[in-house]
Amino acid sequence: MIRKIEFYRHNLSAKDKAALLDVVDSVFLTTGKVVEQFEKKFASYVHSSHAVGVMSCTHALELALRYFQFGHDDEIITTPLSFIATANTIEYVGARPVFVDVEPNTGNIDVRAIEKAITPRTKALMVVHLYGQMCDMKALRKLADRFHLKIIEDSAHCIEGMRDGVRPGQLGDVAAYSFYATKNLACGEGGALSCNNENIYDWLLRARQHGMSRNAADRYHKRYEHYDMDLLGMKCNMSNLQAALLINQLDDLDIFLDSMFLYFVDCLI
Ligand SMILES: Cc1ncc(COP(=O)(O)O)c(C=O)c1O
Repeated sequence: MIRKIEFYRHNLSAKDKAALLDVVDSVFLTTGKVVEQFEKKFASYVHSSHAVGVMSCTHALELALRYFQFGHDDEIITTPLSFIATANTIEYVGARPVFVDVEPNTGNIDVRAIEKAITPRTKALMVVHLYGQMCDMKALRKLADRFHLKIIEDSAHCIEGMRDGVRPGQLGDVAAYSFYATKNLACGEGGALSCNNENIYDWLLRARQHGMSRNAADRYHKRYEHYDMDLLGMKCNMSNLQAALLINQLDDLDIFLDSMFLYFVDCLI
């Protein structure tokens, strides 16, 4: 019997839909308390100190590159075996993606190939945990420290991953995640960053919304409160609507991963 594997079927439950409706009936459809709650829960899931919700993984990667002020004359070493967003974000900030080969068995960037591609212009490694398999983060961190490079993890495919006891975002400087329609944790469009650095977290929180010191929900105290623009940011803040769809899915993410695995095995036999 031939069974077709669907493009994707989301796993939204009655609880997720009820959470969405609660937000629809509230004042803040945009960034507010629900995003904050999701961020805390997500950070704890990936064992990082902080998480910041954004509109997509593409925005998350671009924000990470902008934090480090990478631009013209900078080279970022990355992998050609990824979705186009990975290299695109390097182009967005005016830096140059430098592709190195991948390991034949995992499809992940080959740590041994990176050193040969490092030049005085190399500033960072943008690595991709392809299809849920994590790169060798311990070896990557060692190499990056030797050459004073930052590591940005494109973890669009890998929220649940762990290798040698390391989760995404634990050894990299920043990790970026996707909640696009086809991802294991999905809300249609959405993304997040995780990090363990207070300064990066503080910058990301403001930079995801124009660089404003406080967003509308922070200032909503039934009287006018002003904000400052501290830095030139982007406009990619996650909304309460997105967070409401995501927050309860996190509880069942591991169970969902197991059931997806069994589904695919079933399709193959
Ligand atoms: C490896 C990888 N990086 C980045 C992205 C971009 O994610 P988003 O659609 O959330 O911007 C994707 C999307 O599929 C991806 O597969």
